[in-house]
Amino acid sequence: MTIGLDDVVAAETALSHVDGEAGRLIIGGHDLEELAGCVAFEDVVAMLWSGLVPDMSADPKASLGRARERAYAHLAPLAPRLAGLTPVEGMRLLLSSLPDAEEDLPALAAGASGVAAAMAVRGARGHAPVEPDASAGHAADILRMMRNTPVAADEAKALDTYLVTVIDHGLNASTFTARVVASTQAGIPSSVVAGLCALKGPLHGGAPGPVLDMLDAIGSPENAEAWLDEAMARGERLMGFGHRIYRVRDPRADVLKAAAGRLKGRGNRIAFAEAVEATALKVLERRKPGRRLDTNVEFYTAILLDALGVPREGFTPLFAAGRTAGWVAHAIEQSRTGRIIRPQSRYVGTWPAEAA
Ligand code: ACO
Repeated sequence: MTIGLDDVVAAETALSHVDGEAGRLIIGGHDLEELAGCVAFEDVVAMLWSGLVPDMSADPKASLGRARERAYAHLAPLAPRLAGLTPVEGMRLLLSSLPDAEEDLPALAAGASGVAAAMAVRGARGHAPVEPDASAGHAADILRMMRNTPVAADEAKALDTYLVTVIDHGLNASTFTARVVASTQAGIPSSVVAGLCALKGPLHGGAPGPVLDMLDAIGSPENAEAWLDEAMARGERLMGFGHRIYRVRDPRADVLKAAAGRLKGRGNRIAFAEAVEATALKVLERRKPGRRLDTNVEFYTAILLDALGVPREGFTPLFAAGRTAGWVAHAIEQSRTGRIIRPQSRYVGTWPAEAA
């Protein structure tokens, strides 16, 4: 029996496939590189939901725009309760308020996740929420609602690329959690909240903040080699490198690196981060030869979102905003099987005394 389910197939899915040996992520029949930066987030959502959510594909941009407006009407009354909560706690509060009985729940959940991410980041800082603009693209509108400043076209494109990159990733912890809840026929809002709760933990969605802490500590490219070498000599892990499943490269790191590269040179740290990455790969190969420790998704997530002016505490909410579309699709796919997910445990406690 496998403890922790590492090698267990717990579901069949047509949504995404992670091939760690080949460094390949397939989403709805397409390689990630064909989608991220090439197809708008709304259209990738429609593709992922095709056959699962009727009426999404007619005009996905308008559908998610309307959903953000509907979501705002539900969520805005809760904004005064966000002060004093972290953004992830705030987002959990907001998404928990979504009703189970409502029209077009999949789109509402995806729209609400974007609105809630922006509202929770602002609320944690004591700022009032910003209303959505249904005519804007989903990524551009989330960034505007979060920063309350206009969003340039290349910034919107960079965030759009990020949201597509994280939309789905096989049976990761949060997606599995969402499927378990959906398997009880609990419904879409409950599945999404469950996914968010699993994502909240630092072992799943929380590494990008420490990547920036590492860059802060290194300070300048000249310090990189000595700093990284000393960190490894102390037995520390270099943040943003290595992956449990990807043994060659994390394809998500490559698309985010390209997207971040397009924002280079506006007082942001992208060129510095590229220099640190190159040095880190050299140090990792020298200190752990043959281990195939490459850059992972978290490294360029941190760099990209930082360059977009997203505060560190907003990284996990934005991850959730992208991944919600995946959770929704998995929840519907799972609930259609009509079968509850109910694994076994192995009892290691004491047994009652045998009757004499
Ligand atoms: N820096 C330095 N050494 C590393 C790193 C790293 N980032 N990652 C792995 N190693 C070393 C380990 O010390 C170990 O060395 P050893 O065999 O001499 O003891 C060897 O490489 C294998 O390490 P494992 O822990 O077995 O690798 P695993 O696949 O279990 O770990 C993990 C994957 C947890 C992501 C790891 O690489 C790590 O801690 N990375 C840093 C944190 C990080 O970036 N997390 C985000 C991951 S992406 C995501 O979760 C979406």
